[in-house]
Amino acid sequence: MKYMGSKRYMLCNGLGDTITKLAPKSRRFIDLFSGSGAVSWFVAEQFPIPVVAVDLQLYSSVLADAILARTGPLEIRWVENWLQRAKAHAESSKGYQRAQQLQNTIAVGAVHSAATSARELCANSEYSICRAYGGYYYSALQSILIACLRQTLPSDPSRKRVALAALVQAASMCAAAPGHTAQPFKPNSSAGRFLLEAWRKDVLEIVAQRAKELSARFALVEGKSIVGDANILARELNVDDLVFLDPPYSAVHYSRFYHVLETIASGKDVEVSGEGRYPPQELRPHSSYSVGTKSLSAIEDLLATLGSRGCRVIITFPAGKASNGLSGELVTSAAEKYFKVDSATVHGRFSTLGGNAKIRSARQTSEELVLSLRPR
Ligand SMILES: C[S@@+](CC[C@H](N)C(=O)[O-])C[C@H]1O[C@@H](n2cnc3c(N)ncnc32)[C@H](O)[C@@H]1O
Repeated sequence: MKYMGSKRYMLCNGLGDTITKLAPKSRRFIDLFSGSGAVSWFVAEQFPIPVVAVDLQLYSSVLADAILARTGPLEIRWVENWLQRAKAHAESSKGYQRAQQLQNTIAVGAVHSAATSARELCANSEYSICRAYGGYYYSALQSILIACLRQTLPSDPSRKRVALAALVQAASMCAAAPGHTAQPFKPNSSAGRFLLEAWRKDVLEIVAQRAKELSARFALVEGKSIVGDANILARELNVDDLVFLDPPYSAVHYSRFYHVLETIASGKDVEVSGEGRYPPQELRPHSSYSVGTKSLSAIEDLLATLGSRGCRVIITFPAGKASNGLSGELVTSAAEKYFKVDSATVHGRFSTLGGNAKIRSARQTSEELVLSLRPR
């Protein structure tokens, strides 16, 4: 999964130890900004407490539930059956033969004409996913297969959850975009080779790998995911809850970077526009944490709520100044109003999601704070 803010790296580097110390003393683990689900999965697989993963985005909830909602492994014969159904569905769809021919020409280059042909074919597709993203984030064939995998998900609820999460992960891994889906690579002399590299990926093979890997993993105790606002859900937490906060640090909304995954998760038809092929702004989740004038009051409000509810809290945040105006120092001061704070600095992989205050490139090694909070 290409996820820009994933805490996977830090789980082996300080954060995992802090969680391991506190989780056994807690009744539940609440991940209020769950993103890729890396932290929720870590806790659910290791500790016998329910995990609740919260995020504004539906695709995040889909990822979390693939493991949190199940307490045993799934056998994997269903995976091949699903793939067969999807393939048969694809083969009977309009444009499949032509998409297959185009896929064969991708292998020999000629990126501009490959993109033009794929876009022409996909513009008239019966599938919304192809019309929106085929010829841009995906080759024509990839987009037909993604649409057909989405339409032929298993009916059994556990398999369906794993299948949809595997499809979201595979869509992320195949997307012809740098680390996220804010904009596809252009079919030109500099980015064209990256576009072709992505378009050559075998969606079916990657989906099968992801589905089998997820099937083998499960939570020790059943948990759940919630699509919602952290600040509102925090009002329902209590003194036995260990709450993990990894809030946004970017002044650009996360929904701008993950709209393709959100479309696939929801299965709804979308009309898209612009270079990034976005759905309209009003359909993309909006976060106060990504608005420079609101981010500080958002985190202060959240910490005040968690303090009044008596929760133990772990926060991670880049030590320096982030593009949404927050910084490790500001987050620490906000926490000190309601909690006693232990602070450690660890190395993380900070993704700028379009830029922190100083650096524009996408991924940086960074200093990250891990704050452990006890209510006063
Ligand atoms: C830094 S990322 C979290 C990364 C995550 N810890 C991981 O390991 O993948 C921040 C997440 O917060 C979500 N988000 C933003 N505002 C939110 C809010 N008000 N309530 C809940 N989630 C929010 C974003 O959609 C994004 O997934």
